[in-house]
Amino acid sequence: MAPAATETISNPAADRVSKRIHHGRYKEIEVLRLDRDVEEGKTGEVPAKYPKYLPTWNPEQRYPPLQDFEHYEHGLDADPSFPNLLPEGAKVTHLTPSIGTEVHGIQLSSLNNKGKDELARFVAERKVVAFRKQDFADLPIADALKFGECFGRHHIHPTSGSPEGHPEVHLVHRGAQDQGHKSFFESRTTSTEWHSDVSYERQPPGTTFLYILDGPDTGGDTLFVDGVTAYKRLSPLFQERLHGLKATHSGIEQVNAAVARGSIKRREPVVNEHPIVRTHPATGEKALYVNSQFTRDIVGLKQEESDALLKFLCDHLAFGADFQARVKWEPGTVVVWDNRVTQHSALVDWENGQRRHLARITPQAERPYETPFNG
Ligand code: SIN
Repeated sequence: MAPAATETISNPAADRVSKRIHHGRYKEIEVLRLDRDVEEGKTGEVPAKYPKYLPTWNPEQRYPPLQDFEHYEHGLDADPSFPNLLPEGAKVTHLTPSIGTEVHGIQLSSLNNKGKDELARFVAERKVVAFRKQDFADLPIADALKFGECFGRHHIHPTSGSPEGHPEVHLVHRGAQDQGHKSFFESRTTSTEWHSDVSYERQPPGTTFLYILDGPDTGGDTLFVDGVTAYKRLSPLFQERLHGLKATHSGIEQVNAAVARGSIKRREPVVNEHPIVRTHPATGEKALYVNSQFTRDIVGLKQEESDALLKFLCDHLAFGADFQARVKWEPGTVVVWDNRVTQHSALVDWENGQRRHLARITPQAERPYETPFNG
């Protein structure tokens, strides 16, 4: 059972959140333990393919609150025909009309600066792109981070495991023979948990990179939903009503749940208010920006009103299979998404004890803003 939100944080948004009913619902399937002997193959299991990426939780990593910074949106500088990112010979396959593309035949780590501008823009347009047969995981971790830092300031997660000496890398890790899903499914029906990464930050991430290190033969896919099409599907009257509304996004429960499981707290958790409809700085597209994991309430509404509206919006995103894509991981895959206009959910659906291990590089972007409703 997740603990109640702390009562000690005194800012208006946090005070509102502390009164909310969502605390008891908050539950992550994320695992905060590591059996090194298992991961190193000393107990007969297949060892981790990338031991340098095994998670560590260093309690000495304590950081002050994040400060605002000026985000530069490289997607604005991109050639919209993508000659550097997608030269002749690149194979581009759209997974669905609105969201999701698969690219073969290019190497992200070899992109020049123009190619990186185009990457930011292409990902903003396609929402999520799976680049196959990449060498990213084999690069020194510092080089992977250098690549990622072109897209914004690295976010350091408040609680998650990271490779030793690289707190900027967020690790997703389910060890070999981990049975944690069993207790999770005693109280929950599904592992699906739609979210936009760390949306509680004042400047949440934009162009985001997740690369596979180890994965089950089948299962462990990642679902993505397109917040732009979700917005467009609403009636103009309803869209207009949403404009000008803000919602609180809370990191309190995530930190409290992690600490209750014995994990670390790198920073004090924060609560921030963001517009419900946010505009993408490069494409100008408007996207729904509320998610069931971190959004708590709509500012200015009464509790029942806020709950009903948030439930409608989150259900609309969750049920919109006609504006969702499902990415299947293969060795060497790097998935890049625009966290400003999408949400995603990992799926914990395999039970044969195979390891799932991924690394995320999470550059922060601008403070969410909205442009006026224009019909
Ligand atoms: C994440 O939520 O960023 C990770 C998604 C995944 O594990 O597929």
